[in-house]
Amino acid sequence: MTDESDPFFEAYNRDDIAYGETPAPGVQSIIDLSASGEPKQLRALDLGAGAGRDSIALARAGYAVTAVDLSEMGLERIKQRATSAGIGECITTRAADVRDFEFEPDNYDAIIATTVLDHIPAADALIVWKKILNSLTPTGLLAVEVHSTEDPGSDLPPGCNSTAPKSETTGAVVNYFSPNQLAQWATDRSADLRVLRYEERLEWDYTHGPEHMHGKVSLLAIRNGNFPEWYGQPRLFPRHAS
Ligand SMILES: C[S@@+](CC[C@H](N)C(=O)[O-])C[C@H]1O[C@@H](n2cnc3c(N)ncnc32)[C@H](O)[C@@H]1O
Repeated sequence: MTDESDPFFEAYNRDDIAYGETPAPGVQSIIDLSASGEPKQLRALDLGAGAGRDSIALARAGYAVTAVDLSEMGLERIKQRATSAGIGECITTRAADVRDFEFEPDNYDAIIATTVLDHIPAADALIVWKKILNSLTPTGLLAVEVHSTEDPGSDLPPGCNSTAPKSETTGAVVNYFSPNQLAQWATDRSADLRVLRYEERLEWDYTHGPEHMHGKVSLLAIRNGNFPEWYGQPRLFPRHAS
């Protein structure tokens, strides 16, 4: 794949690889939640994995990860990073469109979609969302992030009226989520999910290109009927050292 057909080629081809190495907050919570020493091999699916910050963190935490992305350069970076971290065999990369990926039913203990459902048209995003739900195990965890209409790159208000700087990759986002949209998807009875954390916010992004603002939605959910012991302390109330 050339830089012309891959909007993320340049961002992943730099020494300072786009998005850095810190996993998305929901992914870190999934790792914290999974730290209770599950005896079985846990499986994770990272959709739109990019250069792999989430995949690598999950693999380090013991997951067998399938990383799916259209960007060959991103997948190459994942392989390089995983190999140098000594976890190369824990991540399988798939160069595929998430819309064509074959989701095995009831297969993944964790599914991650950090800003990919907003990179495909709205009707396709709903189809992929339903496939995600079908592919999550009865105890599965889900972390999703999408750009919202608050984003300065959005063609809808309030984002389209913002004068804040836009991301260098704004052009790749085609489907900005409206207020409460992801919350409605996640709380629809048919989703069979329990929402652990949901947030709609503005945030500054310093992880790639010139600093810019984003409107973001983030969801952390678990299959209904599960009550995990621990998934992180709110930042405002740091946990006391034991
Ligand atoms: C904003 S980046 C996020 C990357 C990564 N999830 C992260 O947070 O570091 C969006 C990623 O989605 C990928 N992507 C966009 N549309 C896609 C599609 N239809 N199928 C698979 N990957 C896609 C892009 O190649 C890009 O790597």
